[in-house]
Amino acid sequence: MNEIKVFSPASIANLSCGYDILGVCLDNIGDEITVRKTKKKGVVIKKVSGQKLSTDISLNVAGVSATALLNETKVNCGFEIEIHKGIKPGSGIGSSAASSAGSVFAINKLIGEPYTNKELIKFAMYGEMAASGSKHADNVAAVLLGGFTFVRNSIENDYFKLNTPIEIAFTVIHPKIELKTKDSRAVVKDKVLLKNMIEQSANLGAFISGLYTEDYDLIGRSLKDVIIEPLRSVLIPKFEKIKSVSINSGALGCGISGSGPSVFAMCKGVTTAINVGNAMKKIYDKLDLDYDVHISCVNDIGIKILKTN
Ligand code: HSE
Repeated sequence: MNEIKVFSPASIANLSCGYDILGVCLDNIGDEITVRKTKKKGVVIKKVSGQKLSTDISLNVAGVSATALLNETKVNCGFEIEIHKGIKPGSGIGSSAASSAGSVFAINKLIGEPYTNKELIKFAMYGEMAASGSKHADNVAAVLLGGFTFVRNSIENDYFKLNTPIEIAFTVIHPKIELKTKDSRAVVKDKVLLKNMIEQSANLGAFISGLYTEDYDLIGRSLKDVIIEPLRSVLIPKFEKIKSVSINSGALGCGISGSGPSVFAMCKGVTTAINVGNAMKKIYDKLDLDYDVHISCVNDIGIKILKTN
């Protein structure tokens, strides 16, 4: 195989109760990444379309993660990468994760798959580090493993997939303001109150139990964030209003997608997800604020191969 084109999907990190450790892979929004072998060694980013981003491999996260992989695995060729960005950087649905994970996934296939997708997470995290100054694995784990994912310990490369209840659908609204992950992480405090730690862990445990027992009500009751959301929600226009109309329109729960500014609602069924999206739109229409809305089921596979040559 000399060339591969992949679809690298968007993802929602944190899911309210799991800051930096929970994620879910989305289905119909993502980047398309083509990687080709070259005679000349090294990595080159030949083209980026869809968004204005650097082609410098030390600045573009796809180049950073690819370089990390090739620093560990010596190969006798080089690679050129073309990226079509379907996800806007700074939107809160894992734009950097899609590019970081997509390039290492594609290169791994081209070199005969010496790594499992789980092992690729550590390389993709270098891209996250370059984008946000922190090596969080929640988005890249979701993109590389698919479905709902859990990061137990990224230093020990301990990640696993959780169960996906069949009817889960997501609504994501992206108000068109840019909020950099770095800036959104800067408002998070180092210390938490013990009572908040207890409430957050109780919700996280119950949420995971709800995924396995497919108890949609329990999932909804557990989608709460008493630690990070109060600090970050002030950065998102009309967050509380978006949340209340989502719940009133039938969402199981609603919270900040990753580091924002996108807001997600988790729903039982696509019809409810569409209704929730329509209710969310009305809030931003009143403000005259530009937005995108995405409705997505859970992508249980993760990155998909579109073409090989
Ligand atoms: N867990 C990360 C954060 C995700 O909330 O900062 C960033 O997409």
